[in-house]
Amino acid sequence: MRGKKLKFPENFLWGTATAAHQVEGGTNNDWTQWEKDNAERLAKEASGKWQAWQQEKFPEMFDPKNYISGRACDHYNRYEEDFDLAKSLGHNAHRFSIEWSRIESEEGKFDEKEIEHYRKVLQALRVRGMEPFVTLWHWTMPLWLSEIGGVENARFADYFSRYASLMAGKLGSEVKFWVTLNEPTSVISNSYVFGNWPPQKKNIFSAQKVYRVLADAHNKAYFEIKKIDQNFQVGFANILQFIEPLNKNSFLDKIAVKIFDYYANKKFLKLVEDKNDFLAVQYYFHNRIKFFGQTKNDNKIISDLSWEIYPEGIYRILKDLKKYNLPIYVTENGLADAKDKKRAEFIKKHLVWIHKAIEEGIDVRGYFYWSLLDNFEWDKGFWPRFGLIESNYETLERKVRPSALEYAKICKKNELELS
Ligand code: FCB
Repeated sequence: MRGKKLKFPENFLWGTATAAHQVEGGTNNDWTQWEKDNAERLAKEASGKWQAWQQEKFPEMFDPKNYISGRACDHYNRYEEDFDLAKSLGHNAHRFSIEWSRIESEEGKFDEKEIEHYRKVLQALRVRGMEPFVTLWHWTMPLWLSEIGGVENARFADYFSRYASLMAGKLGSEVKFWVTLNEPTSVISNSYVFGNWPPQKKNIFSAQKVYRVLADAHNKAYFEIKKIDQNFQVGFANILQFIEPLNKNSFLDKIAVKIFDYYANKKFLKLVEDKNDFLAVQYYFHNRIKFFGQTKNDNKIISDLSWEIYPEGIYRILKDLKKYNLPIYVTENGLADAKDKKRAEFIKKHLVWIHKAIEEGIDVRGYFYWSLLDNFEWDKGFWPRFGLIESNYETLERKVRPSALEYAKICKKNELELS
C-alpha cells in the first residue's frame, strides 16, 4: 500500500466548514443569551462531565468565560485573512453559515448592511477560487423568534423560508450550493430529548413536533430557493451515525439498532425526500447499541472529547446512501485534537474509506474538514480544538498546524499518497 496514490474525481471539492456563531464573534441570538445565563453552571458541572485527564489537560473548562462565545475568532472582521490561509492550503471550496440574527434582528426588517457583508464574504471566496457552500441555519436564531418558541413554533417554517428566499434572491449571483439546515437531528436530540442545549427541554412531544417543523422549514425553503433559480443546488446537512448492535447475535440489540437508526438517521430524510439536489453528510459518531442499559463503546482511539475515531464508519454510511442516487458532499468530519497528534491520520484514514466508496460507485464530490480554525464548540465552549489552524483567543493570532499542511498536499494534488 505504501506509495500508492488514491486519485479523487476531477473537480472534487476540498475545503473546510465553519458556522457563524462559532467563529464570527459579536453575535446576538438565542445562544448568546443562553451562554450568559448558563456559563457559571457549565463551569461548575465540568468536573462531573469530563474524565480526569481531560480536566487536567483543559483547565479552561472550569472558567465561566470558556462558555461565552464573545468575540470568538473575530472571523466577522478577519475573513479575508482566514480565506487567504485556506487558499494557501490548497482549498477550492469553503462552507460557512449566514447569521440569521444579523440579517433579521427585528421580525420582518432585513438589514441591507449585513446582507452586503455576506456578499463581500462570498466575493472574497470567489476571487480566491473557492466554491462557497452557504448554510442558512446553523442553529442560532434571532431573539424575537426564540421568544415565540423557535423551532417549536409551526410558523418557524414560514419565517425561515422567507429569510431563505431573500438570501437566495440577494446573494444568488455568488452562490450555487445552499444548505438549508444544519443537522436537524442534533437540535432535536440535544435541545428537546436530552435538554442540554437551549431551550433545554426534555419533552418527547416537543421533539416529535420539531421533526415536523424543521422538515417543513427545509421543504418550504427548498421550494422558495428553487423558485428563484432552478439551477441552485439545495440540500440540508445531515449528521449520520454509524451504529451497530453491541452483540451481533443479539436479536434485541438488533431491534435497538433499528429504532435508533430510524430516529437518528432515517426519519428526517424521509420527511424531506424528493427535496434534495444533493446529500450533505456529516460524520462524527460510531455507536454500538445495546437493548438494555447503556450503550457501551470500546473507545480505544479517541479525540480530546473522547469521541471514538472510527474511519470505516464513513464508508458504511456512504454505501447506504446509494439508493438515493444523488451527489454526495461530506460537509463535516473532524476531531478535537489540541496537540494535533491525530488529525493528519484522522483525515487520511477517512479519505481512504471515502475513496473506496467512490471506487465502488458512490458519487462523492467533496470533503469539508471541520473546521478551518479552532472555534466555539457550543455548550462545551472553547477548549475543544477542531481547527486545522490554531486560534489564540488572547491575541486572535492564527497558527497553521502541521496537519493542515498534510491536508494541503492532498487538496493541491487531488490525490492521497499512502504512507
Ligand atoms: C457538528 C456541528 C458543528 C460542530 C461540530 C464539532 O455537529 O455541526 O457546528 O460543532 O459538530
